[in-house]
Amino acid sequence: MVGYSTTCKVSIAPMMDWTDRHCRFFLRLLAPSARLYTEMVTAAALTHGDAERLLQFDVVEHPVALQLGGSDPKMMADAAKLGAQAGYDEININVGCPSDRVQSGQFGACLMSSPDVVASCFKEMSSVSDVPVTVKTRIGIDDQISYEFLREFIAILHTAGCDTFIVHARVAILQGLSPRENRSVPPLHYDRVYELKREFPDLTIVLNGGIVSTEQVLSHLETVDGVMIGRQAYHQPYFLTELEAVLFDHKDWQAPSRHEVIELMIPYIERQMSAGTELKNITRHLLGLYAGQPGARAWRRHLSEHTHLPGAGIEVLQEALAKLPKAA
Ligand SMILES: Cc1cc2nc3c(=O)[nH]c(=O)nc-3n(C[C@H](O)[C@H](O)[C@H](O)COP(=O)(O)O)c2cc1C
Repeated sequence: MVGYSTTCKVSIAPMMDWTDRHCRFFLRLLAPSARLYTEMVTAAALTHGDAERLLQFDVVEHPVALQLGGSDPKMMADAAKLGAQAGYDEININVGCPSDRVQSGQFGACLMSSPDVVASCFKEMSSVSDVPVTVKTRIGIDDQISYEFLREFIAILHTAGCDTFIVHARVAILQGLSPRENRSVPPLHYDRVYELKREFPDLTIVLNGGIVSTEQVLSHLETVDGVMIGRQAYHQPYFLTELEAVLFDHKDWQAPSRHEVIELMIPYIERQMSAGTELKNITRHLLGLYAGQPGARAWRRHLSEHTHLPGAGIEVLQEALAKLPKAA
């Protein structure tokens, strides 16, 4: 297994309903070196549900991290073990999600005020396999927004043995803001994340939140070990090829054109469809591929209007491609 610190320079954020296995397969074509994260899966869903289905991924997705939500150390450890057995390269604990559903389950961002619980989860999870366990967190919650609060949280986890943190550089407001608002209303404080790295130079610190350009990535990487990109990677996925070319020393990789990406997706889609997946469940992740290019709207519209129709097959994708100028 490749060590975490060498493969965390760029990662793609866990995003519920977005970064499912089909999305990750697609993003891997554009970002061969990025670390990919699953959507959050609750420990309860894994330990009481259809773990085999929930954990499926394609071998090309490596390095791929499983994000878990939960706060019961034993259940989190059982879930982590299942993830390790399935072949995930990292297990990540969600301490950043502010949704009501997650709060009523007493996990996600509200766990920032219970660092001992997170530390217990971390220890139990680390004891069941050799797969690294990491934490994704915010810089604070509600009125606990001081740097000292964040530092204390990190220090307790550090003492428990955790050496890698992904920090979304915003506080989470648990009452009064929706999850969506919680990704844009609280201001970004990159300085807090930089300060953590200065204070804990031995920790691997990955900065997340609001990154949309290669220039921003390069600038953050002067201070922190890695960046995690969420919405920009989903809405403008071709941006990842530029990052890949700038950040990684490739001798034999050349970014595929957008058309080539689709050509590469077709055998995957055919395989998945013959196993029962509906076309629309894969193509919905491809809508942003031509963002900013001539024909982008026709591409999106054709896919949106046709992939859900009964009997829709790969020809819908071919038709959508035919609506684009050849060089896109
Ligand atoms: C649709 C959506 C779903 C998300 N789901 C999760 C999740 O399951 N777990 C998590 O830790 N963060 C989740 N996030 C937050 C992202 O991982 C990330 O922290 C946030 O979007 C900020 O990064 P960005 O500005 O690059 O998008 C989600 C974000 C979006 C947009």
